[in-house]
Amino acid sequence: MAINAVIGAQWGDEGKGKIIDILSSDADVVVRAQGGNNAGHTITRGEEIYKFRLMPSGILCKDTLCLIGNGVVLDPRYLLKEIKYLEKRGIDCGNLRIDPRAHVIMPWHIEIDTLAEALRGDNKIGTTRRGIGPCYMDKADRSGIRIYDLIHPDLCRQKTLRSGIAKNRMISRYYEGEELNLRAIADEYIEYGKELKKYVADISVLIYDAVKDEKNILFEGAQGSLLDIDTGTYPYVTSSSTVAGGFSTGGGIGPVLFENVVGVAKAYTTRVGEGPFPTEFSNEIAEILCKRGCETGIAGRSCRVGWFDSVIVRHAVRVNGLTSLAFNKLDTFRDIGRIKVCTAYRKPDGTIMNNFPPALEELDGCTPVYTEFEGFYEDITGCESYDALPSACKNYIESLEELCGCRISMVGVGPERRQTLMR
Ligand code: IMO
Ligand code: MG
Repeated sequence: MAINAVIGAQWGDEGKGKIIDILSSDADVVVRAQGGNNAGHTITRGEEIYKFRLMPSGILCKDTLCLIGNGVVLDPRYLLKEIKYLEKRGIDCGNLRIDPRAHVIMPWHIEIDTLAEALRGDNKIGTTRRGIGPCYMDKADRSGIRIYDLIHPDLCRQKTLRSGIAKNRMISRYYEGEELNLRAIADEYIEYGKELKKYVADISVLIYDAVKDEKNILFEGAQGSLLDIDTGTYPYVTSSSTVAGGFSTGGGIGPVLFENVVGVAKAYTTRVGEGPFPTEFSNEIAEILCKRGCETGIAGRSCRVGWFDSVIVRHAVRVNGLTSLAFNKLDTFRDIGRIKVCTAYRKPDGTIMNNFPPALEELDGCTPVYTEFEGFYEDITGCESYDALPSACKNYIESLEELCGCRISMVGVGPERRQTLMR
C-alpha cells in the first residue's frame, strides 16, 4: 500500500501526464484533488495521443478507480464532453467518481474570469478563462454551488437563481457586461446533474477504504508549484493549492498517508500567462526548445521559455517535501551548444538570493546567476538506460540533483512512456 503524488515543480506543463501514466499503471486508484479544466495532460500511447483536462489519467487503465476530489472545481459541460470523447474512442468511464463537495463552475464564473481579465488591463494574469478563479472565490465566500446541489434539481434551481442574481448584478453593474439568462442556466445544469449523478460518491470515504484495503493510490497534480495560491508567484498564480498539502485537503485524506511525492520538472522552464520569469529568454534556441518540446499547451496558447532555474525547483522541493524528481525533455537540448542553469539570483546591490522571494517586488532588478554545462550532440531518444546516456547528459543531471537538493529518479528522453529512463 502506498499513496504517491505527482506534482509540477515549475509553472505547469512539465510533462506530468507521462509520469502520471507510468505511475498509474500499477495504481488501483487515481485522484485529481485540485484545479479544474485549466490543466492539460497529454499522454502518448504508441500511435494514440490522449488529451485530458479534467479526467484523471488513470481512466486509460480499465480497472483503475478514477476520483475527482472535493478540492476540484468542475465544469460539468467540460467533463461531459470529455466523457463523450473518451467513450467514442472506446474507453469506458464507468470507474469515474466525483465528490459531492466539489464546486461547480457556472457560466457566470467563465464570464467574470474574462471580464475581470479585461479590466485588469496591463496587470492581467493571463488566466485560461475557464472560470477557475471566480469559482474558488465563491467557494471561499461560502456562496458556491456544489456537485451535491447540481444533482438535486430543486437545489440546483434554487441556488442557481439565488447565486445568479448577485452575479448578474456584478456582471452588468460592475463589469458593464451582458446579464445571463438564469432560468435557462438552471434548466441546462439540472440536465447535467442528471447525467453526472451516477458518478457521485464520497471520495474521502473511497480513499480511506482503499488505504485500509492496502491499495495503491496515485494523486495526479495539475498546474505547478509556482502557480500555487499560497507559495507561488502571487498574484500570477492559479486559485487552488497546487502543492502536496493541497492534495490532502482536496482529497479529504490525512497528510501522513502520503509516501512518495514526485516533482516533475523539464530540462528548461516554460510559463504560459503573465508573471515573473527570471530565466526567460527569446532567441533561436528558445524557438527550437519550444518547437521540440511541443510547447503550445493543449489550450493552444504559446508559451515563454527560459533556462532551468534551480531556485524555483529548490522552492518546489521544499514546499512539497518532494521525495524525488522526474526530469523531462532532456532530448530537446541536442545540438543547441552549451546549456545554462540558474543557481541563484543576484540583487542590484550585488548580494545573492538563494531562495525564491515571498513578493515579486523583491525580484526587481535581480539577474540570474548562471552555471554553464557542456552540451551534447547525440540522438538520445533511443537510449534505453541511464548509463547509456552521453557523459555530458549524466553530468548535467547529477549536477542538477546537487543544485536542487533532490534525487532525480526518472529522466525523459522523448514523449513516450518507454522513453523514460529509471534510475
Ligand atoms: P497543467 O496542469 C500551465 C496558469 C495560467 C495563468 C494562471 C492562472 O497543464 O500544467 P487560471 O485559469 O488557473 O486562473 O490561470 O495559471 N495555468 C497553467 N499554466 N499549465 C497549467 O496546467 C496551468 N493551469 C493554469 O496560464 O497564468
Ligand atoms: Mg498544460
